[in-house]
Amino acid sequence: MIKIAPSILSADYTKLGDEINSVRSADYIHFDVMDGVFVPNLSIGLPVLESVRNFTDMTLDIHLMITSPSKYTKRFAQAGADIIVFHVEAEAPEKIHEAIEELQSLGKKAGLSIKPKTPAEAIFPYLHKLDIVLVMTVEPGYGGQSFIAETLPKISTIKKEILRRKPDCELEVDGGINLETAKLCVNAGANVLVAGSDIFNKKDRAARILELRTVER
Ligand code: DX5
Ligand code: ZN
Repeated sequence: MIKIAPSILSADYTKLGDEINSVRSADYIHFDVMDGVFVPNLSIGLPVLESVRNFTDMTLDIHLMITSPSKYTKRFAQAGADIIVFHVEAEAPEKIHEAIEELQSLGKKAGLSIKPKTPAEAIFPYLHKLDIVLVMTVEPGYGGQSFIAETLPKISTIKKEILRRKPDCELEVDGGINLETAKLCVNAGANVLVAGSDIFNKKDRAARILELRTVER
């Protein structure tokens, strides 16, 4: 089954509660954290996560676009994250292993994300432990960018490796997802679709969530 994760990066933060309620038919709330160093932009962090956790029971999918993420993963877990994904490019191998294990020992799901130009093989040393892999289909940092089609073969490669080594690992795509690109990603093997602008720019968000979820293969 296809899962939909609306990215609140495209929401109106002056009425975040209403915005979250407007997408409650989705599966996850995707929460983008940026530090202005790993990516050239800043966004939201721990205090907003704590408020969102107190407001909703929806599954909170945290995407850390920050340097040295292992310094912060535990704090995001304690602030109420359900799924914590960080970038393989942002941390040393030893610390990646430790952070995955720590998150799982806290009862959280752990994931790794890769940027468009990073080869699939970068996540293979960790794949057997992962609950989710997030393939960036735009350069991380901003909502509303165009999908990079060159990432599709990488999605297929990772899906094959997941089926071979960790079949229950989810495969999430993030960036430039709309009805057309959602179909390409699902065909390539993705089962979780992050969408920011494509959902929050619509009046009827529930309708768009259903359309994305039922995109034809
Ligand atoms: C970008 C973020 C995305 C972003 C996607 O760095 O990771 O989650 O919100 O936005 P859209 O769907 O508008 O490309
Ligand atoms: Zn994201």
